[in-house]
Amino acid sequence: MIATDLAVRPATRADQHQIAELMDFEEHLHRHLDWRAPLDWLGWPHYWVMEDRGRILAALACPQDPPQVAWIRLFVHSILLTPAEAWTPLWETAREAIASIPATLDLDRESPQGVSVVTVAAIAVKPWFRTLLETSGFVLHQNIVLLEWQGSLVNWDHRSRQDGLQVRRMARQDLPEVAALDADAFDLLWRNSQEALQKAFSQALYATVAVLDGRIRGYQISTGNISGGHLGRLAVWRDVQGHGIGRTLVSDLQTWLQARHLDRLTVNTQADNAASLILYQRMGFIKTGDVFPVYTSELG
Ligand SMILES: CC(C)(COP(=O)(O)OP(=O)(O)OC[C@H]1O[C@@H](n2cnc3c(N)ncnc32)[C@H](O)[C@@H]1OP(=O)(O)O)[C@@H](O)C(=O)NCCC(=O)NCCS
Repeated sequence: MIATDLAVRPATRADQHQIAELMDFEEHLHRHLDWRAPLDWLGWPHYWVMEDRGRILAALACPQDPPQVAWIRLFVHSILLTPAEAWTPLWETAREAIASIPATLDLDRESPQGVSVVTVAAIAVKPWFRTLLETSGFVLHQNIVLLEWQGSLVNWDHRSRQDGLQVRRMARQDLPEVAALDADAFDLLWRNSQEALQKAFSQALYATVAVLDGRIRGYQISTGNISGGHLGRLAVWRDVQGHGIGRTLVSDLQTWLQARHLDRLTVNTQADNAASLILYQRMGFIKTGDVFPVYTSELG
């Protein structure tokens, strides 16, 4: 396209229809695997559009949630632009804004210049998007692998289950405790804020907590789909990992699904997450062969 009046500006809620249209009809769409839809982020900082005389031709959303982690939740552009024509001005605008966020005392990562260090990240499923990230200095951080369970319950020694450990359905009141657990168990990049967990909980087919002596020790949140379920979140407090709590939660989930004739369960995990890979493989999951690269760029 011969650039005429192309301009980048923050997105507003009034842009909803035009962005939705781009998402519906354009081929070049990167959409983060997320508990929120890309349009739900409108109104958050670091959501940008590029327009030509009022017509939106591209959008980029990278809001921080949790603080200091900005996943690229949306990048989409019109066929009238090349990927680089759309990406470069949007990313340069976002990069500059994110790299100058002042550090605040309650955040633990600060650059020598006194600004907040923010990790911008993306799970780049499509090759055209991977190319853009690589040319903009993003580096491969990790791979995500997909595993699948097809309904056979694994015989495991239930005596190894901790005495007194109970699995029960998660309740809305559990969310603050579950969020604290999530922040303890996951590295910063993979943490879910309480708001994100609330969204996950509201979309769950089956969400449970493992409780011992009145305290939540582990939790899982699974969603449903036509062929079964997807284990979206599983975590155990660090100080009680390795005591069979993860296994108890997964086993209970599999039994629950099987009783409802849902015998397919998928899960994504990091290719270098030994604990989860061992757990899933012991519980009868097998790798599907799908691998998705995670790219990151540190700003600040
Ligand atoms: C992954 C996780 C949920 C496992 O829960 P857990 O309660 O610690 O796991 P369990 O004690 O039930 O262990 C299940 C199996 O995995 C093995 N395992 C657990 N942690 C391990 C580790 N760090 N290294 C090697 N094996 C490990 C156990 O030996 C056990 O196998 P076994 O019974 O044959 O010995 C927990 O480590 C965690 O919360 N990690 C951080 C969050 C995370 O990565 N979640 C999964 C992302 S998809």
